[in-house]
Amino acid sequence: MSETRSGSVLIFDSGIGGLSVLKELRIILPSVRYIYVADDAAFPYGAWDEEALLGRMTKLFGRLIEKHRPGMIVIGCNTASTLAIDHLRQQFPSEIFVGTVPAVKPAAERTRSGLVSILATPGTVKRQYTRNLIRQYASKCHVRLVGSDKLAELAENYMRTGYVDEGAVATEIAPCFVDKGDKRTDIIVLACTHYPFLVNRMRKTAPWPVDWIDTCEAIARRTLTLAQDIDFEQRKPGLGDLALFTSDRPAPEIIRLMGGFGLAVEPYSLK
Ligand code: DGL
Repeated sequence: MSETRSGSVLIFDSGIGGLSVLKELRIILPSVRYIYVADDAAFPYGAWDEEALLGRMTKLFGRLIEKHRPGMIVIGCNTASTLAIDHLRQQFPSEIFVGTVPAVKPAAERTRSGLVSILATPGTVKRQYTRNLIRQYASKCHVRLVGSDKLAELAENYMRTGYVDEGAVATEIAPCFVDKGDKRTDIIVLACTHYPFLVNRMRKTAPWPVDWIDTCEAIARRTLTLAQDIDFEQRKPGLGDLALFTSDRPAPEIIRLMGGFGLAVEPYSLK
């Protein structure tokens, strides 16, 4: 029997990273109404203790589902997905979730040198979920996991102000580049949804050219596949796309940024 679900598509991230997923979703599902949720009061997720973050996310998703009854929830955040996707699928209707996990499989299929690096938050790097992906799909590759506690913040700043400290970007990406004499890293997986916003600076400061792979387009395509039988709420006058921020008061430049993505900002208290 085919399911009949309705509602908006909710996109979730700790900050502005999920916008890289929204961009792709809008191409594939243009008329659907989107609700973007940023748990910015808890940013950065990469630094959180796992149990505490899982508790916070479970509570937050419980409220979001109750209030907005979304047709689908796209977790546009590797740090959140690799921690919580299995748990959330057990707690709530499992079919509404689409997760974002590091693009280990496509990287392993495409590398010619066999040297692949995964650039992510410290949280994603230490997850068992990430290690399992590597064991499952990239056991024949030499995979270097590189955790950065600065890049997500650099991306946030860039999106707010237009300024990037290129020296800091160069320092953060440097450990990804492995040179074994006759073989060098040829693929870097951007395993944080904030990073695609900095990819041009990464290209510019990289010691040699590599392919940078992210999952944003693949997530949008996956959402489309799962969305076939869903009667999504459509965007219309008086019912536009929204952005909800868990901080009581997002900064004016964030409100402007969201406006540029066609999202009207509302505070969203967890209290
Ligand atoms: N955008 C998030 C991700 O994809 C992480 C940013 C953070 O540390 O909060 O992993």
